Amino acid sequence: MNTIYLIGFMGSGKSTIGYALAKRLSKTYIDTDELIEDTYQEKIADIFKVDGEDVFRNYEINALKKASYYDVVSTGGGIVEREENFKTMKDTGTVVYLDTSFAEISHRLINDTGRPLWNNHLEEKLNLFNRRVSIYKKFTDYTVKTDNRSIEEIINEIINIL
Ligand code: S3P
Repeated sequence: MNTIYLIGFMGSGKSTIGYALAKRLSKTYIDTDELIEDTYQEKIADIFKVDGEDVFRNYEINALKKASYYDVVSTGGGIVEREENFKTMKDTGTVVYLDTSFAEISHRLINDTGRPLWNNHLEEKLNLFNRRVSIYKKFTDYTVKTDNRSIEEIINEIINIL
């Protein structure tokens, strides 16, 4: 089994790129956030609000294990918050980090209200971004920059790498 896992911060384009990549390669595709919402019949924002982040992270661990049977997987930005997710991904596939700047992400998510951890003060978002980026970089097999690049360019680079 060699699944392609896309990791990266919220708004880095994991879902858009994952979907387009799978389509181009005629491979199966799944998004762990969608899988969680389908499985538990609850919006992610509500899971955070009602059950808390810890419960969400447990749902995410299970979702990732199920997702590992697919060819291309878009993960949630916080997939790196639980160590066992590293093992799931490393054991079953290749990890690609979509590297997007904080400025670009802030621009893309300017009107976003559906991501609980983006509804925070700027300083908290920056701290989260910086902490996460160092984990993504440490953990990934490949890094692909996405600022000012088209979906096609990004997909082509991933296909070339792999
Ligand atoms: C999260 C990112 C979100 C979603 C949840 C938590 C995070 O996914 O899983 O809101 O901790 O960064 P996206 O990266 O697809 O926005």
